[in-house]
Amino acid sequence: MEQITKIIEFSQEFSVLEISYFLASVLFIIGLKRLSHPATARNGNLWASAGMFMAILFTILFHKVKMEDGTYEGIGNVEWILGALAIGTAIGWVMAVKVKMTAMPQMVSIFNGMGGACAALISFMEFQHVPHELVQAHGMLNGYTISVMLGLMIGSVSFAGSMIAFGKLDDRIGDVKSPLLRYFNLGLLALLVGLFVYVVLLPAYPGMGIIYIFALLALIYGVTFVMPIGGADMPVVISLLNSFTGVAAAMGGFLYGNRAMLTGGILVGSAGTILTILMCKAMNRSLLNVIIGAFGGNAAGGVEDPDKIVKEISLSDASVLLSYSQKVYIVPGYGLAVAQAQHLCHELDQLLASKGVEVKYAIHPVAGRMPGHMNVLLAEADVPYEKLVEAEDANGEMNSTDVVIVIGANDVVNPAAEDDPSSPIYGMPVIRAWEAKNVIVMKRSMGKGYAAIENNLFYHPKNRMLFGDAKASLQKLVMEIKSL
Ligand code: TAP
Repeated sequence: MEQITKIIEFSQEFSVLEISYFLASVLFIIGLKRLSHPATARNGNLWASAGMFMAILFTILFHKVKMEDGTYEGIGNVEWILGALAIGTAIGWVMAVKVKMTAMPQMVSIFNGMGGACAALISFMEFQHVPHELVQAHGMLNGYTISVMLGLMIGSVSFAGSMIAFGKLDDRIGDVKSPLLRYFNLGLLALLVGLFVYVVLLPAYPGMGIIYIFALLALIYGVTFVMPIGGADMPVVISLLNSFTGVAAAMGGFLYGNRAMLTGGILVGSAGTILTILMCKAMNRSLLNVIIGAFGGNAAGGVEDPDKIVKEISLSDASVLLSYSQKVYIVPGYGLAVAQAQHLCHELDQLLASKGVEVKYAIHPVAGRMPGHMNVLLAEADVPYEKLVEAEDANGEMNSTDVVIVIGANDVVNPAAEDDPSSPIYGMPVIRAWEAKNVIVMKRSMGKGYAAIENNLFYHPKNRMLFGDAKASLQKLVMEIKSL
């Protein structure tokens, strides 16, 4: 009788757990859907967080571990789990509250790396628990070992790669460009795949030694794989690492037969993969080119010509030009985020609109330092989403635009992408500001952008520079227009 009560109790708790995982997965999906629009993104984050909270809570309460005598018991070490959760939550909370908007990409890289590290650690620990029955029946060629090895490899690469990406985004690490590194990477990748195949083809459990070597090689590969990639190719790598973390987490889901983990991993993995494809398209690069070719960050191309003339525009001329235009396009870039001038930018656009000027924003997919950076920045200032126009569509309207104001953007308006085959950004679609009747570039100096290359737009006959910090310049410009 006691046995039957136990079984009923177990199956009830098991059902509650499974239903909670199902609901958590639904919350992840709703969250992801809502993340796709700036107006609902904040709320989407909360939905997905609620799903994660639910999955963790119900796992602690209802997950049962099968003991050696065939009975089931609740999970142990609960105080350690709660302690780790509390520490992790506190660190994450403080980081997220304190982070500056411009340092968001770095933080996202760190968080992504942590996800990869978790997935790798899970696999690392679970390698010693490959079920004996499986090994006896199939050797190491079984789903469990394959999930462990894949989770370990992809998670380690994602962790190490994300740490390097963090260093690059934070300007702590430069690009290492050497053809030798390319061959080294290919060799290392072949070694990793070879070791993977070797382990899964073993007839018996090999012990932990080999897995230490495998993890170490994967970590080294993560570093050397991201090291040469830089400049304009960073967005592709970041989204690729994102998808790696998702796939590694999904492997953990397979391992534990945990549906919430599986769904979460698949969602992150597929969203990251779609983003990678979109980024490749935006940069006009094939993924293989980015990984093996390791373009970008090369300062070659667009060499400075001392005879080129830079024209400046005064605030009063700029304000008159803008006020008497019919159509103005604003091209925001990383400098707008640095200056935190998005609110003033919106004020300028409203002011011009009140004078009958049609104002739109041309959004380049890799402007800023993270996917959707400009969308998030402008949403923060309540710029209506309808005013944001994708680069390709905006280019179609450049001929009929009176003034393009480039605010803190550089690489995304660089004509070298179209007319200089020696440029590292050659082939990347850019916003053709020079096709408008007038261009005003607002930045602090003649300084280069992320790709570290010269920009001939600044010397174009149609262009005039308005030097200064974007916030200070916009403040003065708004005052000047108001006083007209
Ligand atoms: P960038 O080419 O990086 O240029 C930004 C410009 O802003 C700089 O030339 C800088 O010139 C100016 N600036 C900085 N602070 C400013 C301030 N306070 N006020 C006014 N101007 C300021 O930016 P972009 O055009 O947005 O292009 C993005 C680049 O980052 C691309 O190469 C892209 O591939 C790369 N990237 C993108 C991502 C993603 S996912 N979006 C991720 C990693 C890398 P001054 O110093 O002269 O002011």
